[in-house]
This record gives sequence, C-alpha cells and structure tokens, in this order.
Amino acid sequence: MKISAANFLSHIARFTPTLAVVALSVPLAFAQNAAPFAAPALVPQSAAPSNTQLASPQIERRVNDLLRQMTLEEKLGQLVQYSDAGYETAADAQQAPGKNPEARNRVDSMQLASTGRLGSMLNTVGKDHTNSFQHAAVEKSRLHIPLLFGADILHGYRTIYPIPLGLAATFDPDLVASVSRISAEEATTAGVRWFYSPMVDISRDPRWGRTQEGAGEDAYLGAAMARAYIRGYQGNDLSNPTSVAASVKHFAAYGAAEAGREYNTTDMSLSRLEQFYLPPYKAAAAAGAATFMSAFNALNGLPSTANRFLLQDVLRDSWRFNGFVVSDYTAVMELRNHGIAPDAATAATKALLAGVDVDMMSHYYDAELPALIKSGRVPISAIDEAVRRVLRVKLALGLFEHPYADSPEVIAAVPEHRPLVRKAAEESLVLLRNEPFDGKPLLPLARTAAHIALIGPLADAGSQMIGAWGGPDKNPDTVTVKDALESRAREAGGSLDYAKGTEITGDSQAGFAAAVDAARKADVAVLALGESSEMSGEGGSRSRLDLPGNQQQLLEAVAASGRPIVLLVFSGRPLVLDWAAQHIPAILEAWFPGTEAGSAIANVLFGDAVPSGKLPMSFPRDVGQEPLYYNQFPTGRPPLNIDLTKAPNFATRFVSRYIDVPNDALFPFGFGLSYTQFAYSSVSLSATSIPLRDAQLGDARKLITATATVKNTGDRAATEIVQCYIRNLGASLEQPVRSLQGFARVALAPGESKQVSFDLGFNELSFYNNAGKAVIEPTHYTVWIGGSSLATDHADFDVTP
Ligand code: BGC
Repeated sequence: MKISAANFLSHIARFTPTLAVVALSVPLAFAQNAAPFAAPALVPQSAAPSNTQLASPQIERRVNDLLRQMTLEEKLGQLVQYSDAGYETAADAQQAPGKNPEARNRVDSMQLASTGRLGSMLNTVGKDHTNSFQHAAVEKSRLHIPLLFGADILHGYRTIYPIPLGLAATFDPDLVASVSRISAEEATTAGVRWFYSPMVDISRDPRWGRTQEGAGEDAYLGAAMARAYIRGYQGNDLSNPTSVAASVKHFAAYGAAEAGREYNTTDMSLSRLEQFYLPPYKAAAAAGAATFMSAFNALNGLPSTANRFLLQDVLRDSWRFNGFVVSDYTAVMELRNHGIAPDAATAATKALLAGVDVDMMSHYYDAELPALIKSGRVPISAIDEAVRRVLRVKLALGLFEHPYADSPEVIAAVPEHRPLVRKAAEESLVLLRNEPFDGKPLLPLARTAAHIALIGPLADAGSQMIGAWGGPDKNPDTVTVKDALESRAREAGGSLDYAKGTEITGDSQAGFAAAVDAARKADVAVLALGESSEMSGEGGSRSRLDLPGNQQQLLEAVAASGRPIVLLVFSGRPLVLDWAAQHIPAILEAWFPGTEAGSAIANVLFGDAVPSGKLPMSFPRDVGQEPLYYNQFPTGRPPLNIDLTKAPNFATRFVSRYIDVPNDALFPFGFGLSYTQFAYSSVSLSATSIPLRDAQLGDARKLITATATVKNTGDRAATEIVQCYIRNLGASLEQPVRSLQGFARVALAPGESKQVSFDLGFNELSFYNNAGKAVIEPTHYTVWIGGSSLATDHADFDVTP
C-alpha cells in the first residue's frame, strides 16, 4: 500500500489529522424553537418515505427480529461512533476543543466492536484495517451486527477531482454523479461504505473556509449538485458493494455563520431559511440520501444538534426522510458549550429527543443514556427508534451479507479514472479575464510557445492541488502545473524556466529577482498563486481575501517586467483580485483541481480544452462587501444611474451603497469566459400570463416555458452554460433582484445556434412566506436567459388573479 491508512487519517481526521411543498406550515414550531420538544406542526408534503429501499418490509422484519434480541447496551452501541483510536488519549483530551470532561479515558474501539457496543467508525480506512474491526464485530459480538465505516471523502478517494466548489463551477450534475461514483468504487475497496458528503451548506460569505466544501451561494445550483452526489454515491441500489450511503451535511444553515467565522451562530427568518438555505438538503433527502449529519451551529438560538424543528419537523415530518442522523464531531457534547445543556445528561437527552440518532465521538450516549432511561427521562422507545434507523441503513447496504472489503484495494490514483477527473478539472476552471496582448486574446497560448516562465509557490505543489479533504498529504500521483508544462515544452520544442518566487505565506523577497528575471526572458509568464489548501476547509476562516503572504508583491514585480502574464489562482473560495483584474491580461480561477491538476490546466492554457466553467460564488472587489451574493433583496434606495466608482456627493450619497467601493461583484455569480463568444437572441415565453388557480397546483412542473437561442459567434467549438433567472415583482414579501431557476450546458460548433428552453413550474416560480409555506401569488415575473447573472435578454409574464 503506497499510502497508509494512518497517513490518510492524519490528513482528513480532526484529531489524527419532486413534489413541491404546498403546505409547509410551521410557524409555531419555528417561533417556539427554544422549546425543542414542541409537537411537530408540519404537514407532510408526501406520504412516501424518502428512501424506498430503507422502507422495505423485508428489512423491517429483520430489524424487528434483531431489536427483540438486543440488550440496552447493544442498542446504545449502535448509536455511538468512534475512530480507530477510540475516543482520545487523556493527553489529547486535555487539548482537544471537543474534549469530553466526563470521559477522559480512552475508549477501546476494538473491544467495543467485539462486544457489540460500537455501531460505526469514522475515518477508519484501509482494507486490512477495516476488516480487522469488522471481524471483531461480526465474529465476536453476540448478535454479529456489522460495523459501518464512514469517512470524509468529499471529492475523491485516491483519484482526486476538484473541490466541491470547483465541481459546482462545472454546472454539470452528470459529471458530478460520475466522479462521485468513482470515488465510491475506490473507497469501498478500503471498507468505507458511508461518505460524510455531500456538504450542501449554502455559503454567501467566502470568509467562511468551508465554502470550498460546498456548491457556493445559490440554492438552485446547490440542489442540482446535491442530487448528483447522491445519485453517484448511492447508485440505484445501496446493497451494491460499490455503493456508499451519503451523509448530507451539515444540517442546517451552517454556511450562514455570522461574519464567516467558523462554528459561529446563524440567525435568519423562516422564509430565508426555506428559500435560500434548505433547498439543497431537501433535494438530497428527496434523492434518497440515507443519512444526514446535524451541524455544529445554532440556528435562531437553538443548536442544530438539539433542534427538533430541523431534525423532526422539517427533515422527517415534512420531507419524509427515513434514514438516520449522525451528529457532527462531538456536537452532542458541544451543546454544553452552547449553554443549553448544563450537564452531559441534558446534552444527551436534548440531542436524542431532537432526532440525533448517532453520537459521533462525544461518548455521551453510551455514558449517559442508561441512567436516563432508568430514570424515565428518556423513553426506551426513543432509543429503539434510533436503533431501527441505523439498522435499516446497515441492512440496506447489504453489510450483513458482505461485511468485509474483499476486492483488490485501491491504493493509488486509478489510471482508468484519470480521464474523467481530468475532464472534471478542465470543466471546473473559470476564465475570468482574457485581454488582448499583441492584438489578440492572450489565451490560448500558441502550442508552439517558445519560452515560458513558470512562477509561483503553487506551480510545483502536488500536495496543494488536492484540497483540504483531498486525501493523503503527499500525493505522489498528482500532476503539477510544472510537470504538465515541462512535458508540453518537451513535446513542442519550447522551454520552461521555473522560479518559485516566494512561499504561499511569508515575507521573504529573496526569490523575487529570479522570478522577474525568468519572466523578462520569456515569451509568456504563467504565475501560479493563491492559498494553500489548508487555508480553507474546516477551521479555515479568513478575515482577508487577498493573495496570502507577499504573493501580491511578487505579482506586481513580475508584471512590471512588461511581459504577458497568465495568472492561475488556486483557492478554496473567491479571492479579491481587484488589482489583477486591472493589470493582468489573463486570469484563470483553478480552485484545487485534484490529481490531474497540471494536465487539465495545460489543456486549457493551450486550447486543447476550451474553458466553460462559471462562478458558483460572486468574487468581491473588497472583503468589506461580504456577504456579497447576486440574489440579494432590493432596497428602498437602489443606487440607480449612479456611478458608484466615484465618491458620493450630496446627490449620490443617500442610496444603498458604500462610499469607498462599488456595490457589485468584481466577477459575478454565473460569470466565466470562453475562447469563443456567444450571442443570445431575445427571450420568448410560451404564454404571457398564467391563471393563479393553475399556478397554485403545488405539483405543477411546467407552467410556462422560456426559450432563447444561443449562437457560437466565434471560431472555436465550445460549451456555454446557459442560465435562466427570474424576478418576481409585487409579491407579499420582497423577492431577490433575480434568482437562478434553470441552467443547461450547450455544446456549439463555430457558427452554430441552438434553442434552449427552460420549463418553469411551481418550484421555480414559488417563494416561501414567513409561515414556511411555498406560495405563488398574482404577481409579475421577468425571465432572463443568458451567460451569467448579468444576463440582459428578458421577457415578462403575469400570474393573473
Ligand atoms: C466536520 C465534518 C466531518 C466530521 C468527521 C467534523 O469536524 O465538521 O464535516 O464529517 O468532522 O470527520
């Protein structure tokens, strides 16, 4: 095995390293969410459970049979989860933020597994490793219930594809489903049958480091991505040994953490929650996700891990979710830090009764629940229900029939998977700027480019290319930008001069002179700058969004050489690229592209692949604009016809603006250039009005169709991501200035035109009111179709009373 499980762990583990909702009526439960045990008030949207496999009568019979035989200790065993190190050593416990004061002693996972007192394990990977624990559980424990091994596999196991934010930039759900499938195929060979993924938290604030794990700022795109991950991971059949159960995280609204600070609180209206934050979770549940993970954050004052409104009323009662819920890492224990549980017993009670079935690493359920059941504070029926949910998933996965990893273990990037992850990486790249140099756009570079200077701390950084959750630290399988450009230079008879220039962080300018010198002698300088992969991800909140260290100074020094410059930006979030946008002719946002990083980037730089990625998040001009997102609400004082680049005077001051920066994004949501150009015809609609009574049919999938023609007016075959936005004017609550309600990837040969249509139904046209109900009112709609959130071609219609 090239990369040991321990290595992998030290990187990924915290301490070791469509039916529309027509009647979602929950004001009471929401308003009273401080009373977590309030009776559910949601009206189910559908009687059918979210995952039919989990609802199978055969599985239910087996669950009942097992449950009858289980002791309380064995039941609680199914509800706790530890890593292979068990809980933590006493020394770790002193330092760990998630320490459990009542449980300083190390929990012995192997011993628990052999005695039926452990249900699942996290971030325990590797065929031999997982099999050894599984043998203990299956052969030694009394009831032979297999363990479930879960791991943070977010964008590839050994063959790594772009971080989820980069994947979202592809606007390509089919591709996302395909790469998700290959990571399931790879990881299951190492015993992992459960991914803590997809992470579907909407993030409108790139200061939050976990922005990189999700699909960005938009609920419609986020929902499409969420469905794609579930399809890829779970396939049609959980019992297929190459399928994994998904864990949709982090439920809910973790991405709205105030000021972008990690683990911070969130607070929002019910309509905002329903309309802008919940759709991806809901889509994942509807796609049959087998498990959910409760979030660390509090929502409106109540931690998600004790939030019955979220976990019962919304998730189970309204969405009919029938899988199980696992807490986030020590989140049950953290209820004490949140100040809503004075002791471990209260924390365990609140979490369990709110609907958290499995306690990840807190060591509270097994330690506290026996006494709580004895005293009657927690009914045994609540334990039984949680155990049932866990067993259903294990049975649906076929773990009882094939508990062991028994196919050849994938221990390195898989050659057959490389073309697909390369395609994903190519599609994820977003061309932000491509200005002429010597009369024509700088990119693509001539294939025969004579002499390239490659500069920057991310040019030859294989381990950085794979992102924060991407696998082992030292990934020997990654193609760096330097590797790929060197081999191009060899093939084309050119040459490559590499100069690191500086480190990702730090202030030494010792390498600047060599970098500037290399650029001076080159036909073109390619700068690979940005963040390290650790600067985003969990615990990676930043207060600044600039290029870290002295990379900005390096960029300016190299730019002063006067040579044409291509800037490659590696980042787990939107960065402030204001200076670069004014001075650097070509900018390519690369995110963290994965194992095939260098090859994908080289293919795009030299035009073998044409960029098609579009931004899943707005790139600000200044960090002070955050949270900045395209689907903002209007204000009473919009700065119409005012030049916001100029300091205000009396006439231009009293509008919604800053005095020192324009309001808009530097690069807006949905934006991305190509090597060709696209032209849009005006938008046409299938009707000019819809009667309200038709629109109110909650399951109406198609009320009106919007169509536009898109033409490739350039001379290269390319793919355009055609986007459809709507605005709803005159509703009882203000609605966003526009919101994405459809997209399509359209491949066009030079000169070719295609008609693109978007069906708009109840889901697309409705909004949520503050009673948590999705409604359509007799209002006026504008529909835009175009290549970004700034699309200008539009048509209008009305919903008539
Ligand atoms: C993270 C989760 C992750 C879990 C297990 C937590 O710290 O918030 O996203 O799945 O650890 O590693």
